[in-house]
Amino acid sequence: MDRFDEDLVNALREIVSDGSWQYVGEKSQFKSPCTKLYAEDGEHVVLVRMEDDRFWAMDSSCPHEGGPLELGDIEDLGNGKMVLVCPWHHFDFCLETGISSTGLQNEVYEVRVVQDKIYINTQNALSLFPISETNTVPMGRMLPGEAKSSVSENSLCFWAVKILCTADPKEKVSLTQEVQAKWNSKKITEVGDIAPPMHPRRKESLTVLEPGKIKRGKGGTLASRIALLHSLANIEQWAIDLSWDIIARFSSVRLSTGEPLPREFFNDFVKVAGDEAKHYSLLEQRITELGSFFGELPVHNGLWQSATDTSHSLLARLAIVHMVHEARGLDVHPQTISRFAAQGDSSSVQVLEVIYSDEITHVAAGLRWFTYICSKEKCDCLTTFHELVKKHFKGYLKPPFNTEGRKTAGMTEEWYIPLVKPSS
Ligand code: FES
Ligand SMILES: [Fe+2]
Ligand SMILES: [Fe+2]
Repeated sequence: MDRFDEDLVNALREIVSDGSWQYVGEKSQFKSPCTKLYAEDGEHVVLVRMEDDRFWAMDSSCPHEGGPLELGDIEDLGNGKMVLVCPWHHFDFCLETGISSTGLQNEVYEVRVVQDKIYINTQNALSLFPISETNTVPMGRMLPGEAKSSVSENSLCFWAVKILCTADPKEKVSLTQEVQAKWNSKKITEVGDIAPPMHPRRKESLTVLEPGKIKRGKGGTLASRIALLHSLANIEQWAIDLSWDIIARFSSVRLSTGEPLPREFFNDFVKVAGDEAKHYSLLEQRITELGSFFGELPVHNGLWQSATDTSHSLLARLAIVHMVHEARGLDVHPQTISRFAAQGDSSSVQVLEVIYSDEITHVAAGLRWFTYICSKEKCDCLTTFHELVKKHFKGYLKPPFNTEGRKTAGMTEEWYIPLVKPSS
């Protein structure tokens, strides 16, 4: 046997003997630089093909905020280091190690090409097509109450729906602040019950793209800082809507004891809505100071997907939006701050610090109401949370975690560590 045949036989032997190698297709099927491969457990993989026919694989969901890495760009950083750059905020991930210059780490997988067949070393079966999902069964025994058709300006839901239907973000902010003041001073007294729209309104002039289609400038420039602040302002605008949506959509929920949600639930989410409105304004003002304006850049509506996915269940909504996404916001805070601090942009740092301390209280509110409902429903809150996240949030939670920030919000490690991918 010549050397080549020997290598081939050894490679094949290894693949056959080790069940964790997944055959994903013929080399000729992977013509584009990045191909998404779907995994059963939701932790999808991107297979990268270089011009010189080398292959690499890593998780396709960006460890920063879940951006679609399969839509990223491959860049050569020189000294032989090739990176995949996330389309959302331009974090780079080394193809070989998964390490990002921002300090984050993505999981990488070995790839072998044997007789033009591609194998990836992972426990999960991978497929070029989405693996059909089993229908999600709503958790809990809570039922939405009877829809009352009373539409009263004296109700919180009337205003929640009005704000969701307001396209202009400045108007959305001022209405939110007005309603918050009226609710706090008891000028609005009823919660009410009006179905919210499936999709909040947006200004027609806003360019909305698919999440992965937004390209950012290179890191370290004024343009990239504006782009990051702009994307955060977009998230805050969605966060205002998410707060009003949880109020309106679940206003008439009855616990299985027949009790409605207590008034404090609405107090908390009116406060969250007010905070998000403040965050949007601070960011919008900062973007303007830096010479841009909100709407100058395209935005994506990715965050609303979680609202749609959890519109059937208050527990699922609290778990995914407030205890997964908002907690993730705490995790990425240190990296975001350091990007602005490194450029001496202390005004943006100040804005981000204000947002951060409020966001801790939002995670705390999610956790507080999640555990409240679980105790009323007599279900174990940790088990329920883990089940809901596995069902509605595709993929694992990714470190690094902001352990301190999460702890301040009351979220100790037993909530999220069991949702991290087990090391293989
Ligand atoms: S989601 Fe990828 S860099 Fe932010
Ligand atoms: Fe916020
Ligand atoms: Fe928030």
